[in-house]
Amino acid sequence: MIFYFTGTGNSLWVAKRLGEVFDESPVSIAGQLQNLESSGGKLPFTLNPDEKMFFVFPVHSWGVPKLVMQFIKHMQWKGYNSQPVYMVCTCGDECGYTDRILRKRLARKGITLTGAYSIVMPNNYILMKGFNTDSKEVEQQKLAAAPGRLQTIVEAINNHIAAGSCIVTGDVADATAESSAKKATALYAVGTHPVLKSYIVYWLFVTFALKQNKFEATKICISCGLCEKICPTKTIVMEEGHPEWERGSCVQCTACIHRCPVRAIEYGVETWKKGRYHHPDLK
Ligand SMILES: Cc1cc2nc3c(=O)[nH]c(=O)nc-3n(C[C@H](O)[C@H](O)[C@H](O)COP(=O)(O)O)c2cc1C
Ligand code: SF4
Ligand code: SF4
Repeated sequence: MIFYFTGTGNSLWVAKRLGEVFDESPVSIAGQLQNLESSGGKLPFTLNPDEKMFFVFPVHSWGVPKLVMQFIKHMQWKGYNSQPVYMVCTCGDECGYTDRILRKRLARKGITLTGAYSIVMPNNYILMKGFNTDSKEVEQQKLAAAPGRLQTIVEAINNHIAAGSCIVTGDVADATAESSAKKATALYAVGTHPVLKSYIVYWLFVTFALKQNKFEATKICISCGLCEKICPTKTIVMEEGHPEWERGSCVQCTACIHRCPVRAIEYGVETWKKGRYHHPDLK
């Protein structure tokens, strides 16, 4: 079972590739959450005895995106009997302790995270001063390196190398185990100051930044309705041919601002001179 969340298509690309390798159809977390009301607040899933489970998503502020946390809260498992559960996240450069945040959330549902892996992909965070998309050259380099990285992750999963920030290299007894442990830590990019970023900045992001919503469509909007259609939280509503952003529900996935075909969406003045990006496979 492969559950995914994506804003600009990087994580969707990963979920689809994993789906091909492990013969599974990716399931959209945003799509499932839209059934929440009609299903009485419960999202039931049945896991087969030999099935692996994957959570694929972008790192948001060195943590797990809000919708992924909500989804796990409402999931109800049948058939879980310690089958392997993996996190494969995409990031612009580093993940902090995103894996520990997910591990804790899953543990509250009685589920053990087996391993966590990260793939560096083009950055899509542009809503704050100091953050922009990558140069075209870096974007191309990251996209070119992604298939190799994914292949390495698939091999690690098949060889039971359980990566993540919790691997303790100092404890390993022999040289083979030590080299495995080093390989495992290399498969997940913690980066610098993970405690500060994942426990303080992430909390500030979820508590305050997500409450802000400075999105607006400028005069060049052609009323195509794409932003309304792709928004995973149904925050955008077309009113008399013009998109309006409801307050409170946006999770800053950045899908709308990057995918508008005429670049009509801005986030206050912050995004005026910034780049736009979405994965080339997203049509
Ligand atoms: C709100 C937000 C926060 C982000 N925070 C981080 C971060 O902490 N570290 C990082 O390396 N990339 C960060 N990024 C970049 C994305 O994780 C990265 O571009 C990812 O591949 C996007 O995946 P998607 O196309 O599936 O949405 C952030 C992006 C967004 C929208
Ligand atoms: S995607 Fe862009 S052009 Fe289309 S309705 Fe939204 S803002 Fe307007
Ligand atoms: S409004 Fe835009 S950034 Fe917010 S959740 Fe919808 S698509 Fe994502």
